[in-house]
Amino acid sequence: MNFNALSRQREIYVHGVAGIKPLIPIDFPSLELAAKQKLSSEAFAYIAGGAGLEFTMQANRSAWDKYAIVPRMLKSVGEATLSRTLLGHSYPLPFFLSPIGVLELAHPEGDLAVARACKETGVPMMVSNQASHSMEEISRVLAGSPWFFQLYVSRSDELVSSFVKRAEQAGANGLVITLDTTMLGWRPRDLNLAYLPFLQGKGIAQYTSDPVFQKLCRELPPDQNKKKINLHSIAGLLRLAAKVPGPYFENLRGKALDQVRTFTSIYSRPDLDWEAIEKIKSSTRLPVILKGIQHPDDAVRAMNAGIDAIYVSNHGGRQVDGAIGSIDALAAISPVVKNKIPVLFDSGIRCGADILKALALGASMVGIGRPYAYALALAGARGVEELILNLAADFELTMALAGGQEPMVNGQ
Ligand SMILES: Cc1cc2nc3c(=O)[nH]c(=O)nc-3n(C[C@H](O)[C@H](O)[C@H](O)COP(=O)(O)O)c2cc1C
Repeated sequence: MNFNALSRQREIYVHGVAGIKPLIPIDFPSLELAAKQKLSSEAFAYIAGGAGLEFTMQANRSAWDKYAIVPRMLKSVGEATLSRTLLGHSYPLPFFLSPIGVLELAHPEGDLAVARACKETGVPMMVSNQASHSMEEISRVLAGSPWFFQLYVSRSDELVSSFVKRAEQAGANGLVITLDTTMLGWRPRDLNLAYLPFLQGKGIAQYTSDPVFQKLCRELPPDQNKKKINLHSIAGLLRLAAKVPGPYFENLRGKALDQVRTFTSIYSRPDLDWEAIEKIKSSTRLPVILKGIQHPDDAVRAMNAGIDAIYVSNHGGRQVDGAIGSIDALAAISPVVKNKIPVLFDSGIRCGADILKALALGASMVGIGRPYAYALALAGARGVEELILNLAADFELTMALAGGQEPMVNGQ
């Protein structure tokens, strides 16, 4: 696909003359509001919410104000180059789609719709460990378009090896290991609604499609604390039995609940350490990217461990409340990494100027998170594609108007 900011801008205005409004709102606040109006309160809370009082989420936005672009004039910008190279591959735009779990909450086609938009645009997809479809199904839709597999290191080493092997076989370009979610953060919006999608069998497709996971299900000791049955729990069980793979009546007899119980028994791994990461790194031929780095010392530790790239992110403020804005972390980490390995970045990217600032502060490429989940909620694959086109155009125009490829931030 060719990206051209002026033709995108013209297309929107010309459509307006014919009375056609954009498929999704252009700016983030309007996009989020429109998605909120469309989604169930549970789905919106899960996507929009963060940890604690959401101070980290606020910091992910307010921190940007410290870094202002200083535009340069008469730089004869001409045709801007939007493409970026990462770990030996060239990508058409300086951004990718961050891994987001349980996309079926946004749209019934979930990850498959996102994969279609990625295939159409060439933007790399990071396929979540908590996806609603298996990585094999998603990679079939991507049909050769680049993608990365995002791994959560669970309690079962055997399952982790199986996920990594599957990612290799399904053709992933790299393995993104998320470090910041060894346990789920304290998320009041979800807790107020007493809602966790995984317990309804949502977002566990990588697990239920895995032979090692199925073996773990069979080995699971019987449930000692059976809950009292009421109408609500029966309705929940019926939905769950239809959701997880396998014959419906077998699922009703307990197989579906076993899958969820097995998942909850292995998901958290609070004792995850560098040794475990180094073991995974030495077990795979895929480049390994560590997601969730916020401290310069952890960046140095990753480089010393021979990690291929780091990914500065605070999970969109969903894990630790009261933490620094992620862009501040990038500003501290880039000078330490000194371009020795690529540095990816996300948490708070909402527009072209954000992308430009993050690149100026040392990011090799940046990740788009919540904006694409909202675009998916509003208009499926087309919505995600439109979002990509809008962000690409916004970025291109901002970059060109600021004076080109190497913009100055705060005059440096
Ligand atoms: C609903 C939701 C689900 C997410 N699921 C995952 C996931 O499965 N794996 C992961 O590494 N990060 C996950 N993230 C974090 C994103 O990859 C990314 O770091 C974050 O969305 C960036 O913040 P932003 O969306 O506010 O820009 C999730 C984020 C959201 C909002």
